[in-house]
Amino acid sequence: MIQKNIILLDGRKATIRLLSSDDTERLYNYFCVGISEEDFLLFKDNVKDYFVIKGWVENVDLDRVVPIVGVDDLTEEIIATGTLHTRGHGWFRYLGKIRVSVCLRCRGIGLGKAMIETLLEIARERRLRAVIAEVLSVQSIALKVFKEVGFVEVGKIDSIAKDLKMNPMDLHILVYYLD
Ligand SMILES: CC(C)(COP(=O)(O)OP(=O)(O)OC[C@H]1O[C@@H](n2cnc3c(N)ncnc32)[C@H](O)[C@@H]1OP(=O)(O)O)[C@@H](O)C(=O)NCCC(=O)NCCS
Repeated sequence: MIQKNIILLDGRKATIRLLSSDDTERLYNYFCVGISEEDFLLFKDNVKDYFVIKGWVENVDLDRVVPIVGVDDLTEEIIATGTLHTRGHGWFRYLGKIRVSVCLRCRGIGLGKAMIETLLEIARERRLRAVIAEVLSVQSIALKVFKEVGFVEVGKIDSIAKDLKMNPMDLHILVYYLD
């Protein structure tokens, strides 16, 4: 369904594709070694728990979450993950929510943008009207990237969350309008 071959800014070749049923070890490895402690806190589930990852890989339901991964063509390692969250019913049925994460050593070479653009293409194919991204104030690069791709900041909830040192963080709400 989704298969995109890309060349990153450092010349590395990668593939963006759907998460597949044999990705458990690769995805678990991504979360164990690919992200920082600060990034770990951005996830609402414990992504360092093997059984959380196994559950995700074995229970893909494309009507609720479309999970994509970026894979290094040479090493076959997962180097980025992204999800588009949707619902078939109710007020959310024309909306999607997007999340993306790129491994620490592959940042700044265009992969994040390519992942976001791929998720937007999927949203367009599904005839969604808008895609929402929630970004904390500490994620300054993510804020910049989403805006560069065309997301508009529509609001901010002040001091709604706390970081590791209990400092307050704002939550920025960004929207990409598809129609
Ligand atoms: C946000 C994130 C996905 C961006 O991924 P990335 O692969 O580094 O981004 P890209 O290389 O595609 O860069 C896109 C833009 O971001 C900016 N950018 C990237 N890295 C940057 C850095 N270190 N400093 C400043 N700007 C930077 C650049 O402006 C770049 O634009 P350009 O194409 O005009 O140069 C990545 O930093 C990440 O995984 N962060 C942690 C998780 C997160 O915050 N997710 C988003 C919320 S769900």
